[in-house]
Amino acid sequence: MLSNIKHLAHKLTPLLIDIRRHLHSHPELSGQEYQTAAYVAGVLSAHGLSVQEGVGKVGVVGELRGQNAVSRLLAIRTDMDALPIQERTGLDYASQHSKIMHACGHDVHTAVGLGTALVLAQVAQELLGNVRFLFQPAEELAEGAAWMIQDGVMDKVTAILSLHVFPSIPAGSVGIRYGALTAAADDLEITIHGESGHGARPHEAIDAIWIASQVITTLQQAISRTQNPLRPVVLSIGQIQGGRAPNVIADHVQLLGTVRTLHPETREKLPAWIEKIVANICGSYGARYEVNYGRGVPSVQNNLALSQLLETAAQEAWGKERVQILTEPSLGAEDFSLYLEHAPGSMFRLGVGHKDKPNYPLHHPQFEVDESSIVTGVVTMAYAAYKYWQQSY
Ligand code: NI
Repeated sequence: MLSNIKHLAHKLTPLLIDIRRHLHSHPELSGQEYQTAAYVAGVLSAHGLSVQEGVGKVGVVGELRGQNAVSRLLAIRTDMDALPIQERTGLDYASQHSKIMHACGHDVHTAVGLGTALVLAQVAQELLGNVRFLFQPAEELAEGAAWMIQDGVMDKVTAILSLHVFPSIPAGSVGIRYGALTAAADDLEITIHGESGHGARPHEAIDAIWIASQVITTLQQAISRTQNPLRPVVLSIGQIQGGRAPNVIADHVQLLGTVRTLHPETREKLPAWIEKIVANICGSYGARYEVNYGRGVPSVQNNLALSQLLETAAQEAWGKERVQILTEPSLGAEDFSLYLEHAPGSMFRLGVGHKDKPNYPLHHPQFEVDESSIVTGVVTMAYAAYKYWQQSY
């Protein structure tokens, strides 16, 4: 089966490179992937999959029937959106859309997702269950997965797989992660209300700027002294607003930040923990406050058995030396985690790094992939999908 999948994937590779370059030249922003979605739907239905459009607003779902429709249902998730970045790669198939760029490799994801669907469609008789291909919009806003789930794409799904390109792994290799892959990313908004006054007479005012500085400093120190250092908390205040004049004490300061955690139990306790610190400081100096803790996407927690499935599939396909076991998670965020609230899953990292030229990071205007990674992604995903029904999970 593996050699059959490899053969089919290699035969498809020129088409998949064309598809990827077409998508790269025509990137679309999150939630506006209309042309991309229509293109994806066209390719899927041309190859015999049953296709539903307009799922999750702009998403596409393709269904492939294997031998046994009542068996477990595997979903494969692909994101399709681009970023508001002006491309500076100088490629002859660079973005034709001003200030929009596939700088996170979702063009590669889409080509690999389509390639996987096309390969599996040709071996459908050998599959012991059905596969549902999810092409989601708006991953960069961390909203698309929720839209798709709301439209029922996870109904009856028993496992879900996905991948993300990774420039620091060379093309031809993949990275497998057991457990936490990405962090929960939450929004924090703290408002401090003091009392305005003359800069020369601080005792007649309540200085919101000084209190805000205490809050920021204490939060950072308290993380280091009260949070388990083996369970990371990153709290970054990225925006601060307050005050009107150099000689007027500010009556009002707003702090905006992001909070990243890997462990659900840590995340659970943070809103109350932050509020207590803010309340204590503000209380000491007579200020009022508001804390709004906005929950973003949770941490991606890869299922161990499904990571094992991906590792075994990749090792059999490419050999041990081309499979890296990732020892560290990332504190970035990924809305793949929302699907994992409905079924176990695992996401692997697809190496796209060039061996002979510099590799720019994701979201960089010069980010560029080694396209030989596409066949690696297709074979790894298609073979893992085939193997999914070979054992119980
Ligand atoms: Ni991405």
